[in-house]
Amino acid sequence: MPYEIPNEGAIDRACCAALDAGDPLAVLRKEFVLPEGVAYFDGMSLGVLPKAASIAVTHVVDEQWGQGLVRSWNAAHWIDAPRRLGAKIAPLLGADGDDVIVADSTSVNLFKLLVAALGLRPDRQVILTESNNFPTDIYVARGVERLRGDVQVKLVSNGELDEAFDDNVAVVLLTHVDFRTSQLHDMAAVTRRAHECGALVLWDLSHSAGALPIDLRGCDVDLAVGCGYKYLNGGPGAPAYVFVAPRHQGQLDQPITAWMGHARPFDFSVDYLPAKDISRFLSGTPSIVGLAAMEASLDIWSQVDLSMVRAKSIAMSECFIRIVERQLGSTDVRLASPRDPNQRGSHIAFHHPQGYAVMQALIDRNVIGDFRDPDLLRFGFTPLHMSFEEVWRAATLLIEIVQTREWDQPRHRRRSTVT
Ligand SMILES: Cc1ncc(COP(=O)(O)O)c(C=O)c1O
Repeated sequence: MPYEIPNEGAIDRACCAALDAGDPLAVLRKEFVLPEGVAYFDGMSLGVLPKAASIAVTHVVDEQWGQGLVRSWNAAHWIDAPRRLGAKIAPLLGADGDDVIVADSTSVNLFKLLVAALGLRPDRQVILTESNNFPTDIYVARGVERLRGDVQVKLVSNGELDEAFDDNVAVVLLTHVDFRTSQLHDMAAVTRRAHECGALVLWDLSHSAGALPIDLRGCDVDLAVGCGYKYLNGGPGAPAYVFVAPRHQGQLDQPITAWMGHARPFDFSVDYLPAKDISRFLSGTPSIVGLAAMEASLDIWSQVDLSMVRAKSIAMSECFIRIVERQLGSTDVRLASPRDPNQRGSHIAFHHPQGYAVMQALIDRNVIGDFRDPDLLRFGFTPLHMSFEEVWRAATLLIEIVQTREWDQPRHRRRSTVT
């Protein structure tokens, strides 16, 4: 098995070089644009650019739009793109191709699915979620609460979830991998628990798809959404995706009943007749340029063995933690993520009281991760293009910056809008 790291002792540069030499995924690195000298640890925020995406976007803009014009909706199959891309994402989710569609943003899709799920449980009033969920999930749920008037959002902390289930819960809304700590929910167990109490489950897979194998079908999940611009490398603001279990597709009444979700949009009829299948979760006209970039990336993902991606991600994160903790064990740097790699997604987070400045100092030296309030340094592992040598470089640079207090400069403390 590749990616075996020594059980004990120091992880040094030679060890990382040996792991790179035996890395079966290393061949994929050439598929991506990687700025010279930059070690990129922020693929859980914005994935890197696949070379094929620039080519695809140029082609769609210059040829299909520039020359083909409106004919391209049929001739270049633009009209089928949301379903075609959904089918390409499906294997990454453990879903069937007909059960996933690409549309809108994750926030908009959360709204559509939450309202639709409440419609399936008319006698229940509660949307159950966690206070540490990604804010957009909570804000959208609160928006639904305001809109409906008869629905209540129940926020619980991570450890309280199990006791919060009762027969008033209509839908449980959870992010599979915590965006701060990387804590991974047990999808099978939580879904089972929700079903036992008669609730539906809506998973936000933004930090899961492309980060680890997922089994929506096997876990009997009802609904899911996720971002296209993180591990899936779809590009800034890339379209998002929706999964709906086949048993619910014909029943769910999603609220943004726009023409692309109509059974026959080109009838232009006055009455809305929802498509019977996953297409009913479309709303308006899809963004074709964004879809083109994302499809180029998904074609790379289709060549990838996800168990290999997971094994490399775990090995990389374990190396990073081991290198950092060996040197910084008694300093202000503390692991915020679960210590067991099977309990994590594909990023790790460390606390540091001056986390923002530390991250700015790292970025200044071409190691790019990010920062989340109040004190978290986040490092993402994206095995399609990352090397163990980069892990070694980033971890040793973090040690140096903390030990020398290189972060302690006014320019590193100056907050930008995006952290
Ligand atoms: C878990 C999760 N959900 C949703 C979003 C964002 O959704 P949107 O693309 O609609 O802004 C993010 C963004 O980082 C996220 O981490």
